[in-house]
Amino acid sequence: SEFLHVGNKLLSWYKKNARDLPFRQTRDPYKIWICEIVFQQTRISQGLNHYNNFISRFPDVQTLAAADENEVLLYWKGLGYYSRAINIHKAAQQVMDDYHGIFPSEYEEIMKLKGVGKYTAAAISSICFNGKMPAVDGNFYRVLSRLFADDYDISGSGAFAYFSELSKLIMPDNVGDFNQAMMDLGSEICKPKNPLCHSCPVSEDCLAYSLGKVSEFPVKTKK
Ligand code: ADE
Repeated sequence: SEFLHVGNKLLSWYKKNARDLPFRQTRDPYKIWICEIVFQQTRISQGLNHYNNFISRFPDVQTLAAADENEVLLYWKGLGYYSRAINIHKAAQQVMDDYHGIFPSEYEEIMKLKGVGKYTAAAISSICFNGKMPAVDGNFYRVLSRLFADDYDISGSGAFAYFSELSKLIMPDNVGDFNQAMMDLGSEICKPKNPLCHSCPVSEDCLAYSLGKVSEFPVKTKK
């Protein structure tokens, strides 16, 4: 599309500025899965020690599946949303029982794992297996609504499908890096409050910025 250069700029920016995170040194779907579950609801700075300790104790899906649920919960202590830990444990057993211990590589199969939704399946399949699905979350809503000065209501049930389609206008071939570039841009530059537009690699492509209306996006009517 005519907007592909935006995605390519994000990739160049990401190559230079990607945060040095432990899960960025691997394409092991097990580790990417755990990191996505931890860090979708917990800030990187708050969850990094938990993530590292969890991976040290449960380095692979076999070890996790064989562990006692109480020990898994112990390693989750402090992260909150404990259903995440219980689901992770159950999903590890699913991988053992249903996939011979081999983490599934197809988006639709990854989606069948307990506690894995569209965002997580897209992140795992793109980062580990070159899958082409956008990992749409609040960062995507914010970045895309500002780029296109798009007032689609992010609180409605249509938002996920709408912004999934919009993201494809700027999505380059390397979807794994694109997804992670969007996560990093959303958390470090295109922040909900006080975004750092002067440091943004795509400010000159951003319609909301050029209109002086960044603070008006995204539009959210409910709650
Ligand atoms: N938050 C959740 N997953 C992430 C990832 N892969 N990179 C950066 N932030 C994230």
